[in-house]
Amino acid sequence: MFDLGDFIEQCKDAVQGDNPQGRVNELMQEAFRDPDSVNKALTDAAPKNNVAPLYADENLTVLRVFTPANFISPIHNHLMWAVIGILDGEEKNYLYRRTEDGGIKVEKEVVLNKEAEIFSLRADAIHAIEISPEQPLCGLHVYGGHILQRSSRSMWHPETMEEVPYDFEQLMDFCKTLMNQRKAG
Ligand SMILES: [Fe+2]
Repeated sequence: MFDLGDFIEQCKDAVQGDNPQGRVNELMQEAFRDPDSVNKALTDAAPKNNVAPLYADENLTVLRVFTPANFISPIHNHLMWAVIGILDGEEKNYLYRRTEDGGIKVEKEVVLNKEAEIFSLRADAIHAIEISPEQPLCGLHVYGGHILQRSSRSMWHPETMEEVPYDFEQLMDFCKTLMNQRKAG
């Protein structure tokens, strides 16, 4: 039976250890052997359908993430590792890399859903996500830092592909632009 308090304590221990991301990945894999129990604990802790911080300090953030169907994010980075487990819905994760001419190029596409393995993102990862049109996405994210307060992050303008400082309000405008682009086909 998954216990959120115990999981957070184990993650706190993990970030003090030698291989924080590897250890958190193991903890997530253990937890996701009983996804219904994880889902119940997260719903009890965060009954509203939103992004709910369950724990955050400078070395660790645990988030219950709920993302509406059809949502598309612009390309962005986190500047910290992440481990992601999906409880419901489906997310396409596009991984990018910087090119020698200062641009950015998609390198890999990974589909995440509850059948997929726990997904790890490196600290230097650059990615964009796209949620399936059919179903919202619900997942558990663990980050190796305070994702809600990390400065110096970047995002990429969806039309000019220019790298700009991460700004939440502007990010939401970028999301709208991308979703309208998809609607327009
Ligand atoms: Fe992200």
